[in-house]
Amino acid sequence: MGVDPRFVKIVLDQFSLPIGGIHGVFHWARVMENGMRLAAECGARLDVVEYFALLHDSRRLDDGLDEYHGARAVQFASAFRNPWIDLDEEGFVFLEQAMSRHTGGACDGNVTVQVCLDADRLDLERVGIQPDPRWLCTPHAREPETIAWASARARNGHVAVEILERWGIDWKQIQPGYG
Ligand SMILES: [Fe+2]
Ligand SMILES: [Fe+2]
Repeated sequence: MGVDPRFVKIVLDQFSLPIGGIHGVFHWARVMENGMRLAAECGARLDVVEYFALLHDSRRLDDGLDEYHGARAVQFASAFRNPWIDLDEEGFVFLEQAMSRHTGGACDGNVTVQVCLDADRLDLERVGIQPDPRWLCTPHAREPETIAWASARARNGHVAVEILERWGIDWKQIQPGYG
C-alpha cells in the first residue's frame, strides 16, 4: 500500500512554507532515500520511515528552530490516521515517537525510530551543517562513507525523483529554494 498520493496532496495543501525550501519536499524525499539505505542494513520498517519522511516537517511554521513542529506533526498524523495512514498500532507508535523526538530527542527506542532520526539528520548539509556522528543513532549512519554519501546529495540538492513521483508530486514544477 504505502503513502497515498491523495494524502500527499492534503499534506501539501496545508504546508505553510515554500514547497521547494529547506524543509520542503526535496528534503522529505531525500530523507526517505536515506532511510531506505539505512533500513537495508538494519531492518527498520520502511512503511514507518515513509510516513515519517512525508510528515515530520510538514507542520513547520517557520524555517528556524520551531521547536514544536514535531509535536504538531504527531497531532496531524492522529487527526488524519483514519483513513490515510496505513500502519498497524506498533508502526503508528514508532511514527509518533520518531516525529516527536526528531526535534532534539535522544537515540533511544526501536531501530525504526532511530533510522527515522538518522535519515533526517543525514540531510543536514543542505543547510551547511555536517552531521555529527555523536548525534546519529545507528552504526551504519555513523560510518564516514554514509555521512559523505548523504552529505554530497544534500549539498547538491539531489532530487529523489522516484520518491517524489511515487507521492504524485510534480517536482519539475517546483523551484528549489522558492515557493
Ligand atoms: Fe524537523
Ligand atoms: Fe527534516
